[in-house]
Amino acid sequence: MDQNASHKYQSYKGLPPLAGLAAFEEASRPGLGIEAAVDRLKRFHYVFRRLHEIFNARITAEPIYELKSGFSHHSYLCTEHVTALRTRVGEMREPPLGLEVVPHPMLALVFDEILAAPTTLELLVGLYETVLPALEASLRRYQSDTNPLTDAPSRRVCRFALLEVADMIAFGQKCIECLITEADRTKIQPWVDRLNLALQQAGGLGGEEPAADAGSVEATYSKTPYVYDRIPKRDERFVDLYNQGVNPEAFLYDPAFPARAKTLMMLFKRLREIDVPEMMASIIHETPDKPWDYYAAMTRQLWDEARHAMMGEVGFVANGVDWTVARITHNWSLRLNTECTPIERHAVLYFIEQGLMAKTGKRYEWEVGVASGDPLMATIQDFDWADEVLHAAIGREWYIPAIGNWKDALDYGDKCWTRITSNWTEVRDTGLTQHDNWWPSIYRQACQTWGIEADPEVLAYQTSYEAQRADLKTVTGSA
Ligand SMILES: [Fe+2]
Ligand SMILES: [Fe+2]
Repeated sequence: MDQNASHKYQSYKGLPPLAGLAAFEEASRPGLGIEAAVDRLKRFHYVFRRLHEIFNARITAEPIYELKSGFSHHSYLCTEHVTALRTRVGEMREPPLGLEVVPHPMLALVFDEILAAPTTLELLVGLYETVLPALEASLRRYQSDTNPLTDAPSRRVCRFALLEVADMIAFGQKCIECLITEADRTKIQPWVDRLNLALQQAGGLGGEEPAADAGSVEATYSKTPYVYDRIPKRDERFVDLYNQGVNPEAFLYDPAFPARAKTLMMLFKRLREIDVPEMMASIIHETPDKPWDYYAAMTRQLWDEARHAMMGEVGFVANGVDWTVARITHNWSLRLNTECTPIERHAVLYFIEQGLMAKTGKRYEWEVGVASGDPLMATIQDFDWADEVLHAAIGREWYIPAIGNWKDALDYGDKCWTRITSNWTEVRDTGLTQHDNWWPSIYRQACQTWGIEADPEVLAYQTSYEAQRADLKTVTGSA
């Protein structure tokens, strides 16, 4: 309509028109056609997918716990946007979807380079200062280039993506401020410049500008193909990584011990769960060619497990306990990642998690949380339990069919787990740990916060993992 016409037109009694989507003037601009819109959305899909790949691949060997947790979160956020974009593209006259097509070789190069970044510094700058800001700009550009009425469903998808992309950038920028010096920055700038040039030659991240036919930026770090590092690493707050000196499950299930002391063992178990993202990331990375929903479900679970670890951290902090005194070991992820195949790892995970659905599992932990009188513990265990119910369902959906039937899948899990339990003597004899008993120190700290005298019997607890595995048949396993 012409300008005059749009000025004269009024909605009924001045009500917000167009379902609140836009003013007439904006809705009267033609904007992108379906083909152009789909091209850009497919690029966003590709970008989120590659970001997911990188975040996931770098969880295990990233030593810094806060980054490990952050990558776990961000890998999950990326899967959510991948899923939303896949759905949306599927609504736009698009079968065959062509979602696996690489949109431009220079775009691929950017992600290959960041995936292979040799240090955390380059990784952070590549992700949070280069690609994610470019993604944010391209999403914004999409919002203004497309018609707010005709393409309202895509605008909605992009709007949610923008919210979380901004969160990711804010997190990453703070990390960069804390970790990167000006000298670091100068050193890596030529590489960052090459990434930006590659983005430019790709026609911008969203393909908004004309692209070079092939592009001329050469690979730096991805010249030789990226090799995934499945060895879990930890920062310096995590010491004595092979310690199996305290068996928290035997304490937790002993009716003689008080609920409040048991909450500390539960917090230890929660925080120790940081080994689950370390392990699950390896399954996800090393299991190719599954349907997208597999990666989305597994990544959701990975993120939950990182949250469980942070719940443990929060609980210790709230109780005035220095958790670094406990031994947050990497036994489980290290052994699974180095001694088992991806499907064997998944088998162990499922075996442990379905066991948690029994009466003595997650319900019991929640009951202990409630009985302890600490409302935070009740909250933590309530949500932990709900998450584990979801994880058992994810296992039923994706692990069991990979083996066949429920019984075989369970037996296989048990068998795989038996193979990797109990290296207690070996790690002691090879000098990797003395299995120090860290319990009295943790318990004493909490008693001080609680303003109570340490109970001598609780203090004297010294059952290690020497004789028992942790499911009582017994479970050292995290989940
Ligand atoms: Fe968990
Ligand atoms: Fe779990």
